[in-house]
Amino acid sequence: DSPRKVTVAVIPGDGIGAEVMEPALGILEEIGPRHGLEFAWQHHGWSCEHYTRTGRMMPADGIDQLAGADQILLGAVGFPGVPDHVSLWGLLIPIRRAFRQYVNLRPVRLLPGIECPLRLREGEDIDFVVVRENNEGEYSEVGGRVYRGTEDEIAVQESVFTRRGVTRVARYALDLASSRRGSLASATKSNGIVHTMPFWDEVVHEVAAGYPGVEVADYHIDALAAQFVRDPGRFDVVVASNLFGDILTDLGAAMVGSIGIAPSGNLNPEKEHPSMFEPVHGSAPDIAGRGVANPLGMIWTASMMLDHLGHPEAGAELLSAVTATLTSGVRTPDLGGSASTGEVAEAVLEHLRDAA
Ligand code: NAI
Ligand code: MG
Repeated sequence: DSPRKVTVAVIPGDGIGAEVMEPALGILEEIGPRHGLEFAWQHHGWSCEHYTRTGRMMPADGIDQLAGADQILLGAVGFPGVPDHVSLWGLLIPIRRAFRQYVNLRPVRLLPGIECPLRLREGEDIDFVVVRENNEGEYSEVGGRVYRGTEDEIAVQESVFTRRGVTRVARYALDLASSRRGSLASATKSNGIVHTMPFWDEVVHEVAAGYPGVEVADYHIDALAAQFVRDPGRFDVVVASNLFGDILTDLGAAMVGSIGIAPSGNLNPEKEHPSMFEPVHGSAPDIAGRGVANPLGMIWTASMMLDHLGHPEAGAELLSAVTATLTSGVRTPDLGGSASTGEVAEAVLEHLRDAA
């Protein structure tokens, strides 16, 4: 069989984004051919550095350039001096929306070899997935400010929830729960936010009626945050709006060790457009340029891309190499070790070769 060619748009971005991208590509080149995949990289230097030179995070036709790729890999964008809303609204949000990447999938899983900052009960484990709505909700452009700088100043920002938008993310989460342990927690705040959140609850339960095998529980977001810490073992799949999901997944990443290992995928589940895979962490200007960034978040993210490409066995193989690296004790300083980015990546490669 001739290998399947997969074109991947690569946006390393700023700071440690570029430092973790390079080893991840090397690892994909190692594992791809074993599973009949041949990668072609399409590099894009879009970043805050690009913004300071050109006044744009990406070229005007950036979305068109990406549209021809099968998938997108992103390191991280953001740099001191460029306001964070510029990097977010100039690159990430346009990509997520143009390609209908309406699911932001973020596994929260305690890997072997990681010391959990929470005290778990005997036999308790943390292994759940947050499905964050990624296209609408609280992150909207509807609103404005008037009477700027005066005593009468007003700022208004509207949340936008659509039946189509809530239905499709609920359906994705329910399908995922069906394929796992059959339990879905839905994040709400229908006591305080009296229009959009009761609407969210109603639509989630309408869709859930078609999934008798999945048990659905609603949690107010504040109580849910507390339950993450008190009883993390009870969660299987969690579905949340854009803002709630954003906050919950940083909490989730902290619960399982380090933001340096947390992965995420911005998915277009119908596969009509490219999906975008990026670690949860940012560009970490405080450690950039020192060669100590943990590459495991980017590498686990690459494993999610293999899953989405329809090669879960390749994804699982890569994740086992990550786990083997962690248990062997080769770690970057964020996990209490002294290894460099390159040494950790090399250890992953060795475990992959051993497994072959
Ligand atoms: P951050 O995730 O970059 O860093 C938070 C802390 O975690 C820092 O102390 C950093 O050193 C550490 N850290 C993060 N990733 C690590 C890794 N792989 N290995 C070891 N340590 C790691 O978040 P922060 O500081 O809030 O944001 C920095 C910049 O990144 C900002 O400009 C922000 O807008 C941007 N950012 C971009 C994201 C993206 O591209 N999707 C996501 C989050 C932040
Ligand atoms: Mg975030």
